[in-house]
This record gives sequence, structure tokens and C-alpha cells, in this order.
Amino acid sequence: MTQSAQILLCPPRYFDLSYVINPWMQANFGALDPSRAARQWRALRRSLADLAELHELPAVAGLPDYVFTANAGLVFGKVFVPSRFRHAERQAEPEFSRAWFREQGFEIRTLPPKLIFEGAGDALFESETTRLWMGYGPRSEAAAAPALARLLGVEVEPLQLVDPRFYHLDTCFCPLPRGGLLYFPAAFDAESRLRIQAAFPADRRIAVVEAEALRFACNAICVDNTVIADGIADATEARLGHLGLDVLRVELDEFQKSGGSAKCLTLRLDVPSRNVLNGQARPRAAQSRAASQASTPSAAQRPLAKQAVSR
Ligand code: ARG
Repeated sequence: MTQSAQILLCPPRYFDLSYVINPWMQANFGALDPSRAARQWRALRRSLADLAELHELPAVAGLPDYVFTANAGLVFGKVFVPSRFRHAERQAEPEFSRAWFREQGFEIRTLPPKLIFEGAGDALFESETTRLWMGYGPRSEAAAAPALARLLGVEVEPLQLVDPRFYHLDTCFCPLPRGGLLYFPAAFDAESRLRIQAAFPADRRIAVVEAEALRFACNAICVDNTVIADGIADATEARLGHLGLDVLRVELDEFQKSGGSAKCLTLRLDVPSRNVLNGQARPRAAQSRAASQASTPSAAQRPLAKQAVSR
């Protein structure tokens, strides 16, 4: 029997548009409907509760973007690397999330001082491997890639993000189960696009069109064979179907006003480390750029403290 997916959410109790740090917030300043946002979030939680075990990070007053748990940090086995945010508006968040992860028994590993890195919003593991794809430019810094490779002992592939509307990697890039990828090519520079093409075989690499990308189609949560997102068009759904994946659509346009959608509102807590993947990882197509030098983490796969939330 496979273990159920573990997902961290944070209730939108203090979610708001009270500052501007991305083009979406600029365009929608003053236009948020908080009660509609709360309804959309509850619907997302209901959908996820059928597929995964859910955990809740308590909301913090005065931190409206804390709801986007993808940005809390990066999980790898029982290791947690806290984020360090670019903008002052979000810099108080890690103190709270770090404490939660410590309480849950995670080992905290910290990046070198001053290095900017916005967590799983900018760092996504390819399915069934320990290859980490890391977006840099608008938020995380390129130097975070070798730092993460050293800290976690994994291969890190940096990708340059060039469109300010797609300022986090998870807005335009979503690794799919069994080595697939859903992505928006124009969000990357030419060199990064080539490396993506070399790593993901054409029949498993699904490019979305701009209209879909702008509805956050790539900001998808994958649980087993289900892809949960807003904005996936029928043609993309059909292509996902050919890969054996079902689409579950969720309406999250209130969160899109802040520059986020389904994936940003979640953080997977059960990310297999190298120990768990040993001997079963898929063979890879491309060579690493930021190869690992550090030792394998000793992350034991302990179950999370029982703290799952009900529907
Ligand atoms: N307003 C938030 C910000 O600009 C949205 C974060 C979305 N998160 C994500 N993982 N893409 O930081």
C-alpha cells in the first residue's frame, strides 16, 4: 500500500492585498474579495482532503502572503531549508514557519547568510529523482543553486526566469509523475529552454499557451495521477490524459490577484530523499550542472507528528 501524500496548507485568515511585490498585485490592488478567497480556499482544501493527508500552518496576523505555503521553504526527506525572501514585506515569515517545522521533527538546514531563496515556489524536484530544478532571477538568486546542492547533496539545475509575471518557478513549470513536465516555455531564457528540452522527452513535455499560463495552469498540484489546478484548457487536459493523468479544476482567481494559485497554496511534506529513492530512481537523460559535493542527508522518513486537519 502506498502512503498518502502529506500536504501543508495555511488558512487565508489574514490573506490580503496590502502591498505590491509582483505585477499581479499591482494590477489587482484594492480588488480582493476576502470572503470569496476564503470560500475558494475551503473548496481547494475539500478537494485535497480526498487525495492527501492535510496539515495546517497557523496563520499569522500581519503576514498576508503566509497563506502561500510553497514559499515557506524546501522539504527534502526530514530536512527543511527555510526561505529567505527578497522583499521586506515577507521577511518575517520564515521565523514562524521554521518554528513549526522544528516542532514537527524536521532538521533545519540554513542557507549561507544573505542568500535569497523562496523555497518550493522556486525549487521543484523532478518526479522520482533527486534532481532539483531551481528558478532564479525575479526572486531567488542563482547562487542559491550551488548552495542547495551542497546543503542537500542533490543535483540542482538552475533555470533563468525572464518574464516578471512568472516570477516563481512554480508559476510556469510543473514536474509531472513519471518524468513528465507541464510548462510555459516563454517564461525562460533560451538556454534554460534548451536544457529543459534535453531533460524531458518530447512526448512527456507539455507546453501550455500564454492564455493558460496566465490562468496559472502550470501552478498545479500533482497527487498520484491527479493534476489539480485552475486554468488548464481542454487540449492540455487531453495531453495529460495521454500520460495517464486526470485533471481536477479548482477556481482560485482571488489568489491569482496576489500572484498565486493551487500549487503556491500548498507544500508537500513527504518529499522522498535520496535514501528513500536509492535503487529505484528513474534513469536520467541529461547531465547535471550544479553537481552535488555534499554527503547524502541522513533524513530518516519518520512520520509527521499527527496534526492532520479535518475537512
Ligand atoms: N503575493 C505572493 C508573492 O508575491 C505570491 C506568492 C505565490 N507563491 C508562489 N509559490 N508562486 O510573493
